[in-house]
Amino acid sequence: MRSVRVGIIGLGNVGSGTLSILTENAEQIAGKLGFRLSVRAVCSRSVHSKELPQLSTDVLKTSDWREVVSHPEVDVVAELVGGTGVAREIIDGAIAHRKSVVTANKELMAQCGAEIWDRAIKARINLAMEASVAGGIPIHAVLREGISGDRVRALYGILNGTCNYILTEIEKRGASFDEVLAEAQRLGYAEADPGMDVDGFDASSKLALLAALAFGHRITPSDIYTEGIRRVTAVDFRYAHQLGHTIRLIGAARETSDGLLLSVRPSLIPQDTILAGVRGSYNAVWVSGHFGGDTFYYGRGAGPHPTGVAIVSDLMRVAREIRCGSPERVSPFAHQRLGDHKPIPVERSHSAYYLRFRVEDGPGIIAKLAGVLSDQKISLDAVLQLPQQNWRDLPFVITVEPTSEQSIRDAIAEISKLHFLLEPPVAMPMEKPL
Ligand SMILES: NC(=O)c1ccc[n+]([C@@H]2O[C@H](COP(=O)([O-])OP(=O)(O)OC[C@H]3O[C@@H](n4cnc5c(N)ncnc54)[C@H](OP(=O)(O)O)[C@@H]3O)[C@@H](O)[C@H]2O)c1
Repeated sequence: MRSVRVGIIGLGNVGSGTLSILTENAEQIAGKLGFRLSVRAVCSRSVHSKELPQLSTDVLKTSDWREVVSHPEVDVVAELVGGTGVAREIIDGAIAHRKSVVTANKELMAQCGAEIWDRAIKARINLAMEASVAGGIPIHAVLREGISGDRVRALYGILNGTCNYILTEIEKRGASFDEVLAEAQRLGYAEADPGMDVDGFDASSKLALLAALAFGHRITPSDIYTEGIRRVTAVDFRYAHQLGHTIRLIGAARETSDGLLLSVRPSLIPQDTILAGVRGSYNAVWVSGHFGGDTFYYGRGAGPHPTGVAIVSDLMRVAREIRCGSPERVSPFAHQRLGDHKPIPVERSHSAYYLRFRVEDGPGIIAKLAGVLSDQKISLDAVLQLPQQNWRDLPFVITVEPTSEQSIRDAIAEISKLHFLLEPPVAMPMEKPL
């Protein structure tokens, strides 16, 4: 039976992992498909100086992606370049030439994936993007097909391996954020410019995609309240442990009576929840369904091989669809059409909060803080202070009973005017996921 032929554009981390799986695992893949998945073209700017696996002599090696998307013998294009510039041109070019597309590009798909999908339908080609969220966890397949009979109520995820590595190292060793970030950069776990990761934007793109699949809305990262992990310290973990909690960067999408609440932010979660056990660079997604209840998915969020497996599995799925001539059998967004999303402000969310203060010591501080909180009708739950040597710099914590984000913000605005504060307070919600 004739093979389905693949063109790979981008031979970096993901492209090289994909290529090595396609070559080293070719027999297994052919055994599962009943036909071969063959590499017909590979492309990167520096393709001619790259060390590539042994490829047959008729494989096109080019630095011009246009030669791949227009190649008459390429059936599927894998866009593994990333970003929203040339990657968009590649995908548009592939669709214009009626090639199916597999991509790992969360940024582009979160920004304009629904629009790309509309064009893919019109061109009667397949679009697949499993690797765009939580690399090695087949979470798209789960939401698209595995639990598509359910109605999702809430979804919580640890979606950025760099942040999770940094947070769990701070927790384990009591090191500072800057120290752990520098080490993560040395080890290759964090980019030279870490902003996309540590400021929460990468997780926000991933949550936008997962929430679109789970709830059927057209969601973009700008609809998501996003906060990074730069202000989390070892002291926060010591207090969190005293409270029976830990801290993770949590992406949350929750159905409420007002609509869908979306946020990515560092949050306290109980130590006995399954999400708290996700350490290092691992990712996890917990989904709560109206009918099926809770399900949990865990695995590597990135890396050439885990992500390569997601790409190759998408290529296999698309190859089967090409063989069956069924371009839009299952939408990559799990819904045939996405509905418009009406964002609701995060200020309407409701939870208990952890508030950490650094103050210049003096009389009546707790009473003043309690007064401001009480003016906002916020009830104190506990006041905690670790033994401290430096009396002029006293980080201590107040936890409060469930209240609205709006009340917390109003209280913090008032508290920030108080003269004894050495820095703005840190506020984190205390989530109660699985
Ligand atoms: N890294 C991960 O573990 C991971 C996990 C999940 C998803 N993703 C996503 O996968 C995609 C690729 O990530 P990556 O980490 O593999 O990136 P990467 O290592 O930077 O690789 C990018 C590749 O694209 C090539 N490229 C860039 N501009 C090009 C152009 N104009 N024409 C042809 N080739 C071009 C580069 O070529 P040269 O090498 O010749 O410069 C390089 O081979 C991104 O969308 C990323 O978000 C990555």
